[in-house]
Amino acid sequence: MIIGSKLLFFENLPSTNTHATYLLKKKDLPEGTIVYTNYQSAGRGHAGNEWESEDGKNLLISIILFPSFLKPENQFQISMTISLAICDFLLRYIPDCSVKWPNDIYVNNDKIAGMLIESSLTGNQIEYTIAGIGLNINQEKFISNAPNPVSLRLLSGLNYDLHDCLKNLVTDLDKRYKQLIADDSGDLMKEYVSKLFRLNEWHNFRDIDGIFTGKILKVGDFGRIKIERQNGKSSEYSYKEIEFIL
Ligand code: BTN
Repeated sequence: MIIGSKLLFFENLPSTNTHATYLLKKKDLPEGTIVYTNYQSAGRGHAGNEWESEDGKNLLISIILFPSFLKPENQFQISMTISLAICDFLLRYIPDCSVKWPNDIYVNNDKIAGMLIESSLTGNQIEYTIAGIGLNINQEKFISNAPNPVSLRLLSGLNYDLHDCLKNLVTDLDKRYKQLIADDSGDLMKEYVSKLFRLNEWHNFRDIDGIFTGKILKVGDFGRIKIERQNGKSSEYSYKEIEFIL
């Protein structure tokens, strides 16, 4: 087992990503070490947002990885791998989910999980990656202004054992990470694209020029998303260059 080789639990932390980075600088930790907690007082999301998670209700984990087999320009493959693993996990409990490029997992039009993937580069090498996952399991009420949170509990009405959930998630992450290490045929990318939220459907997006109607065609090299416009022209975007209108 690579992911889950060591599990480090803390009752509460400011942020598992921040703490994993701190621990890694202090001592050698094996690849796949997971730092997890019941509660984050300063859980970090994208774009400076906070990650809301009620004490003891959800999975809040950070995985320490040393993906030296990836060039920095291909680090999106980590996000792809983790996304597929979270989907594998969710499909144990619910019939469907999708990946909202680049870092969210959706069920229908609602967000059930987010990822914060932070890497340190030295020269042309990835020194380490901290892959943070917030996955909503038992939370029933969300109070932040996040637009569309959902949890497994809200979807099914059931309460889940968090230890079982963690065990299953770690199994699914480990399987997908090993697939990434062995992947030379691009199978992960094909599967990832097939699970994209709003793939091949006309929806509204916003780029630097304003709102337009477009259709996601694929995610290609370096994790850029390719969107076709109604005039037949298509463009590729990096994260932050394009926004979904929900
Ligand atoms: C997002 O959707 O904005 C990303 C959310 C990532 C949240 C997780 S919770 C565990 C880990 N520690 C953090 O501080 N953030 C990530």
